[in-house]
Amino acid sequence: MGPQQIQHVQQSFAGIFARKADLAERFYVHLFTMLPEVRVMFRGNFVKQKMMLTTMIASCVRNLDDPRTLEDIGAQLAQEHAHLELGPHETEAAKRALIAALRDVLGAELDPETESAWASAISRVAGTMTRH
Ligand code: HEM
Repeated sequence: MGPQQIQHVQQSFAGIFARKADLAERFYVHLFTMLPEVRVMFRGNFVKQKMMLTTMIASCVRNLDDPRTLEDIGAQLAQEHAHLELGPHETEAAKRALIAALRDVLGAELDPETESAWASAISRVAGTMTRH
C-alpha cells in the first residue's frame, strides 16, 4: 500500500468515525447474509462485539503505515479467531462484508480509489485470520 492509499483509508475512516456503530451493524448484516451458519458462533454480548470490531478496525487504520505494529495486530486477530478454524472462504466474506458496510455508510463518498485502498488494507490484515 502506498502512502496515498493509506491516506484514503485514514481520511474516509475519520469521516465515518462518529458512525462507527452503523459500520459494525452493517458489517454483521452482510457477514451473516453471506455466511448464515456463523451466526451461532457469536455467543457474547453483541453490543460489545460490535465495539470490539470497530476498535480493531480503528487500530488497523491508525497503524497502516507501521508494518510491525500491523503485524502484531494481525497476529492477535489470528489468535482470537484460531479456535474458529476460519478458511479463505470466511476471510473473503469478511472482506466483502466490510466493503459492503463501508458502501452503506459512506454512500457516494466511497469512490473507486477509496474502495480499492480499503480492499488492499483489508487484505493485509484479514489474510492473517485464515488458518495456516
Ligand atoms: C474484518 C475481519 C474481522 C475482524 C476485524 C474481526 C474482529 C474481531 C474481534 C476484535 C473479536 C473480539 C475478540 C475478543 O474477544 O477479544 C472477534 C471475535 C469473533 N469473531 Fe471476528 N473479526 C473479523 C472477521 C470474522 C469472521 C469472518 C468471522 C466468522 C466467519 C468472525 C467470527 C468471530 C467470532 C465467532 C468471535 C467470537 C465471538 C464470541 O466469542 O462471542 N470474525 N472478531
